[in-house]
Amino acid sequence: MDRSERRARQDLKLLLALVAILVGSLSILSSAMAGNANRGSELATACVECHGQDGVGQKPEVPNLAGQNETYLLRQLNNFKSAVWVGETTTAAEGDGWRGFATVYERVHPIMGVMAASFDARALADLAAHFSSLSCHSSRAGEQAEPDPAPARTARCESCHGVSGQSDNDNIPNLAGQNRTYLFNQITSFQRSVRGAEPQPGVHRLHPVMGRQAVLLNEDEMAKLADYYASLPCR
Ligand code: HEC
Ligand code: HEC
Repeated sequence: MDRSERRARQDLKLLLALVAILVGSLSILSSAMAGNANRGSELATACVECHGQDGVGQKPEVPNLAGQNETYLLRQLNNFKSAVWVGETTTAAEGDGWRGFATVYERVHPIMGVMAASFDARALADLAAHFSSLSCHSSRAGEQAEPDPAPARTARCESCHGVSGQSDNDNIPNLAGQNRTYLFNQITSFQRSVRGAEPQPGVHRLHPVMGRQAVLLNEDEMAKLADYYASLPCR
């Protein structure tokens, strides 16, 4: 083996060692961020007033969280946290007013902004794991045996939200059995936010994919879709 070959082998060994360290630290990082549902259930006392002991929304405009996809829930909590509404203007952790910001906030809500901002990243992951682990609740449980017939526009939603409103993709929310008023409000928010309206608490929800979907719907279609998805059994 000549010197350059030996050198090349040493380089390769070094590279492999570095890769091993990198892979190791990545898995430590991801296990550190995986939520702990037990810890989350203790923290969830802060959520009970609105999201219920079992993750069921206590008012029509409050979503059910029980059984929702974990990655999706965590993403929403982080979105709320990054934009805290403080009255006239919105401020992020950096502490400036809404209008002075280059950052584009995805989701602004007065209550949830404050709630999410009071927990660190680890706690938010634990809360997401806790609510995701609870058995889901259908908003019309016990009221109606048969779901509403699917409105024509449902065909556009199925590729992402699943044929029965249950998404296989952990980034995309389940819609089946969600509160009707909450669903309607969200579709409206997606639609208004892409139209460049001033950000309003509870109205602002910017998402490129859902925004494009929402602008194609009129109010009647939005109402029918909200009724339909609320009527589906969640499992
Ligand atoms: C005082 C009432 C209130 C409390 C307390 C509260 N929430 Fe909420 N939460 C809401 C409302 C209202 C919404 C709907 C926001 C919107 O319309 O965008 C919401 C939305 C959410 C969402 C988005 C769900 C989705 O499908 O996108 C998550 C996640 C959430 N809350 C988690 C929590 C957690 C975790 C806690 C406790 C740490 C908590 N909330 C405490 C009222 C509350
Ligand atoms: C190409 C994929 C895609 C399609 C098609 C799609 N959605 Fe979505 N939808 C998403 C994603 C991704 C989110 C999560 C957005 C976020 O993270 O804020 C979402 C979020 C939502 C939410 C908010 C749910 C909650 O818990 O807050 C509603 C309501 C919704 N979609 C309804 C619909 C309806 C109705 C249709 C059909 C007209 C539709 N979507 C079509 C990808 C899609």
